[in-house]
Amino acid sequence: MLGATGMVGQIYVQMLSRHPWFEIRAVTGNSTVGKTLGEAYRGKGHVPEKYADLEVLPSDPAKIDADLVFSCLPTKAAREVEPKFAAAGFPVVSDSSAHRYLPDVPLIIPEVNPEHLDLIDVQRRRRGWDGYIVTTPNCTTVGFALPLKPLADDFGLKHVNVVTMQAVSGAGYNGVPSMAILGNIIPYIEGEEAKVSEEPRKILGKLVDSEVKPLDITVDATCMRAPTIVGHLEAVQVELSRDVPLEEVVASLAGFTGLPQKIELPTAPRRPIRVFSEEERPQPRLDSDAGEVPGMVISVGRVRKGKRPGTAMFVTLSHNLIRGAAGSAILTAELLYALRRLD
Ligand SMILES: NC(=O)c1ccc[n+]([C@@H]2O[C@H](COP(=O)([O-])OP(=O)(O)OC[C@H]3O[C@@H](n4cnc5c(N)ncnc54)[C@H](OP(=O)(O)O)[C@@H]3O)[C@@H](O)[C@H]2O)c1
Repeated sequence: MLGATGMVGQIYVQMLSRHPWFEIRAVTGNSTVGKTLGEAYRGKGHVPEKYADLEVLPSDPAKIDADLVFSCLPTKAAREVEPKFAAAGFPVVSDSSAHRYLPDVPLIIPEVNPEHLDLIDVQRRRRGWDGYIVTTPNCTTVGFALPLKPLADDFGLKHVNVVTMQAVSGAGYNGVPSMAILGNIIPYIEGEEAKVSEEPRKILGKLVDSEVKPLDITVDATCMRAPTIVGHLEAVQVELSRDVPLEEVVASLAGFTGLPQKIELPTAPRRPIRVFSEEERPQPRLDSDAGEVPGMVISVGRVRKGKRPGTAMFVTLSHNLIRGAAGSAILTAELLYALRRLD
């Protein structure tokens, strides 16, 4: 686990302490190198006993013995470190944005585009690596890109507009000064809107001749930081390719399942989207942990039709540290294991 002592890293530590397939063998960090994970831990509750004495190491492949690497390093460190691990033969599943947009790097939501994992072969061939890098989307992207999948498949999609209210944990442990955010909303997050506009096109795209052909849609995004701790709330408006009755939109969202559900991966919720009928839901405090695998369900509410034919509106909520990061990466790794790509 690279970056195990950060906001996202500490969620991995919790999730992997009770995982049926994976065990943490080593953890890395930066300012906490040399401490034990127990001493460096700043997360909720206590560090699980079995991992408390692991020493925080520098992110050096020569010092690590493992079958798989999870990386939640900051972008700059990830850009440098992850290729070293891939070149040294490690499969790397990364939450960082450093390699997400490269044409030979899969950007995966396991329910949406598992077939894009075939890019691994292209990547290995082109780069001469024994290992590889697979990435997960930005924590904001996943909250609306996953619900877009059934809508795109069932009705066709032309345009998406999303306005986000993102929790402070999304900015990392030292992310936003408390005096800037308490009792306030900041209507700008550096670099976020470009990521959120581009990523769904790649994720929903088709793999043709060793390349992802992005889905032909446009996405406009306005990203704001809100004074909530966990859970990104997003107001989404979609323009579908045809006018669709409201009940069909709801049924399409609520009924959606993907490969992780079919093959019953341990971290896959039974249904990845929960649709609320109550007008005042979902809410970050009440619903971020939704589902039998807490934090892995995308909650959708306020589904309604827009004034223009073919438009639909809804609100989504996703746990930014679980479905938006650690949980997504663990589910992706489970898929790699099930598809025999972790040998
Ligand atoms: N927070 C979210 O909701 C979220 C969601 C999706 C993706 N992400 C992405 O996940 C990554 C981590 O985010 P975070 O929120 O967990 O950040 P964070 O709280 O700032 O944690 C950063 C982690 O990386 C380590 N680190 C920093 N610089 C390093 C270096 N040069 N070499 C090795 N390790 C280094 C830190 O170690 P020390 O503690 O020892 O200094 C810490 O463990 C980022 O790329 C972020 O964009 C975050």
